[in-house]
Amino acid sequence: MSLPPPRFLPAVNLSWNRDTDIVIVGTGAAGLSAALAASKIGRKVILICKGDLLSGSTPLAQGGLAAAMDLSDSLDAHVSDTLVAAAGLAVESSVRELVTAAPQAVRSLCGLGARFDNGPLGLEGGHSHRRIVHAGGDAIGAELHRVLRQAVLDSDVEILENTAAIDVLKDAAGDVVGIIAGRVGRVSTQPLDTGAITARAVVLATGGFGQAYASSTNPAEVTGDGLGLAARAGAELTNIEFVQFHPTVFYVPGRRGQSPLITEALRGAGGTITDVHGRSVMRGHHPLGDLAPRDVVSFTMLQRMNSNDGPSTHLWLDARGVGARRLEEEFPTTVEICRSLGVHPASEPIPIAPGAHYACGGIRADLDGNTSLHGLYAVGEVACTGVHGANRLASNSLTEAMISGARLGQHLADVLSSRRDTLSAPLLSSPGVGAGVDPATREALAAQMSRHAGVLRNCAGLGSILETLEMTPEAPFAPLDLATLEATNLHTVSLLVSSAASMREESRGCHRRSDFAQTSDDWAQPLCLQIVEGEVVAQAGAMADT
Ligand code: SIN
Repeated sequence: MSLPPPRFLPAVNLSWNRDTDIVIVGTGAAGLSAALAASKIGRKVILICKGDLLSGSTPLAQGGLAAAMDLSDSLDAHVSDTLVAAAGLAVESSVRELVTAAPQAVRSLCGLGARFDNGPLGLEGGHSHRRIVHAGGDAIGAELHRVLRQAVLDSDVEILENTAAIDVLKDAAGDVVGIIAGRVGRVSTQPLDTGAITARAVVLATGGFGQAYASSTNPAEVTGDGLGLAARAGAELTNIEFVQFHPTVFYVPGRRGQSPLITEALRGAGGTITDVHGRSVMRGHHPLGDLAPRDVVSFTMLQRMNSNDGPSTHLWLDARGVGARRLEEEFPTTVEICRSLGVHPASEPIPIAPGAHYACGGIRADLDGNTSLHGLYAVGEVACTGVHGANRLASNSLTEAMISGARLGQHLADVLSSRRDTLSAPLLSSPGVGAGVDPATREALAAQMSRHAGVLRNCAGLGSILETLEMTPEAPFAPLDLATLEATNLHTVSLLVSSAASMREESRGCHRRSDFAQTSDDWAQPLCLQIVEGEVVAQAGAMADT
């Protein structure tokens, strides 16, 4: 299959320079916990984020932390549920490590002052037991971020807000020795004030790439920056085709980009997805009904939306049976979101449609954050550690972010003691220099991604995205600005997702093809993509050690 070439960024002038032991990109759960752990080993840490410290997906997370802590639950059951959701592509040893560490991760957060909800643990799709730790009802992300943020603010970590990571720096041996970063101006079309941050370890904790799609739960700043940067640097990327769509994203007519999530826990509490006639959409489609795995729910919803019986744009989540009091007490965030959009969930169904939610794949890494490039580490959603396989089990991701962030900090204590303290003159790593991608192309590409690389895919649709990517105009302006950087990263992400989705001729987990509807044993292995000499190359095979 011939694939369009990836796009590269314009060369930049470096007008400032910083040096540190560890530079961490991203301030969600993974970035903050990595920063905290790294600061504890007495290393100099710089933490950068494109917006302010409160930006990103973590503060918005409504679900919870999955941890087998109930007496009726067991580590084996949590492992088994995770493996079932992952549809044959998880690495069992990594899953077991994660599940085993999960209860302690929750206790550590308590030690930092996190206030979790009392009462029974929550239930979400794909979980055979109650094991979701909640905070503030449906506000786990805000609570987690609050305690981690405060701990980092109280530490020696230096935080650089409004600073975007652009590309890595490599030394003559090909090791990653820092990043090129750009200070962001007041508007995204203002040239970035670019400089170099040299470091003995570069940690990517940039989250996912929801903005590659027309509708997503991810905030506007989630534009696949870490994935784009790592891809241009030549890192190995795995399972990129597996994008999880959340079934219940608030539907606002005509809205593009981020839309509010309506937590799955609401279905755990009795909420039902219904059609225009008020009939249950999931009844008869899966033994777990409304709590079936997300790919099954989203696909079943899509079929109903396309059935010419009611609007093709959305369905409804009927949570009236949950009761007004319980809604207010356990789902204050959801109730507030709905009210602000003119819907009262205690008395009327909530309009919903599936939206891009979570990247199950990413930069190939282990749970310590090691990637295929020496000096480059990845944690959280941007990494693919083999824990989520072809489909993530709900609420396993915050748990993973906490655990791998903390493990990475510890791991760096060992790694850095053996890495040299003085760096040889760094070279610009990008394997190519280009003009970047025209930001004006973003909206149309995202619409095409939702249509053809979304819940249901096929050869013709994916091919049409690849054609668009080939023809996408270059950015009209130099020097590099944030809008061009983001558009280029989204172009790269769209290229990687649609290339991998075209190659995987089967349906598995959250990758579903109408032209290859069955799961195939031939494809019971991850697909690894890499940019080599300006081209995307692919290889199928087991996730080897990094
Ligand atoms: C949700 O609350 O439904 C989202 C939780 C998750 O994606 O893990």
